[in-house]
Amino acid sequence: MAGIRIDSVTKSYGGLTVLKAFSLDIADGEFVVLVGPSGCGKSTMLKILAGLEEASSGTIAIGERDVTDLAPGDRDIAMVFQNYALYPHLTVARNMGFGLKMRGTDAAEIDRRVNEAAKILGIGHLLERRPRALSGGQRQRVALGRAIVREPQAFLMDEPLSNLDAKLRVHTRAEISALHKRLRVTTIYVTHDQTEAMTMADRIVIMKDGVIQQIASPDVMFREPANLFVAGFIGSPGMNFLKTKAQAVGGGVTAKLFGHDVKLPIANAAALAGREIVVGLRPEHIAAGAGQVSFTVTPRLIESLGSEQYVYVDLPEEHRRDAGSGGEDESRRTSLIARLINPEPRPPEATLTLSFDPARLHVFDAASGEAIR
Ligand SMILES: Nc1ncnc2c1ncn2[C@@H]1O[C@H](COP(=O)(O)OP(=O)(O)OP(=O)(O)O)[C@@H](O)[C@H]1O
Ligand SMILES: [Mg+2]
Repeated sequence: MAGIRIDSVTKSYGGLTVLKAFSLDIADGEFVVLVGPSGCGKSTMLKILAGLEEASSGTIAIGERDVTDLAPGDRDIAMVFQNYALYPHLTVARNMGFGLKMRGTDAAEIDRRVNEAAKILGIGHLLERRPRALSGGQRQRVALGRAIVREPQAFLMDEPLSNLDAKLRVHTRAEISALHKRLRVTTIYVTHDQTEAMTMADRIVIMKDGVIQQIASPDVMFREPANLFVAGFIGSPGMNFLKTKAQAVGGGVTAKLFGHDVKLPIANAAALAGREIVVGLRPEHIAAGAGQVSFTVTPRLIESLGSEQYVYVDLPEEHRRDAGSGGEDESRRTSLIARLINPEPRPPEATLTLSFDPARLHVFDAASGEAIR
């Protein structure tokens, strides 16, 4: 096992730069998740780590070794892809041992490693089957097994769960986490699913257009998002955003929200006065009934999920953001979602009082999108 150091990696295809000065230090044994929307450069970064693509500039070290110019086979890392590409004519055992055989590992050692990996993954009873006689989840475990038997310095995984149905995805997600706790092999895992990132990562690296937006633990990423993009990406449903203006009052700063002057939870109040800001409020931080700051709405739509309810509300005109500011779809700019836990049934056309605690608010600069604390 080893740590990995990625130093200022840039990748361009012709005139298109898809990774910009990507730098990341990964500790030995750490589980790091690269997350971001489609096309942000996640797979490209992973392929460069694996040696399947060449960086335009920058360096990569695994442990003490600079591997920037090494061939994939000399990097001592194992990759698990979304389409796990098992050989259909080989048994599970042979699929798992294939890479070792190609490297000339002796048969007894291959057997030992395959059996050990099969035991860890709970597929010992499947070793003589062919892939077509396996379920999707079982195939996924064989693909993991093929990586484990190599006893690599690090695992690279590119959306390894995306071919599985929702239930199996949750199950296999937990299995990969348990496997990591047991083996403690440095792992870089790529997904566009923020839930996977939140549940699996020691640290999350969130990317947009080839640029790292924030590197943090799931907890910090959720509580202290660095900018509007991160705030909107992490959490489900995403954070609500309200356009408004900061006003200096006494020693503090307030903003007009749903007609109330609401004190904002920020330290550096003076610098903010008069500035256009975006106030963020998570759906789960809105409650039904009166509270510290209350407002009355007529819901546009109520979705009941049993244990919780999503209430969709059209934002008043003064809180709507302009198109193009964050690239989000129309509904994110013009509506607000409240996530009510253990709700009462309610008729959608009735008015409803909602409330929030101002201490829960996030504040962002409207022009730059950066968080203000
Ligand atoms: N060989 C290539 N030639 C030109 N452009 C490429 C090539 N490979 C990838 N790209 C571009 O690089 C960008 C990043 O692609 P990449 O596959 O890394 O995205 P991703 O974050 O993995 O997305 P997804 O979630 O859809 O898998 C995309 O705009 C893609 O079109
Ligand atoms: Mg990809």
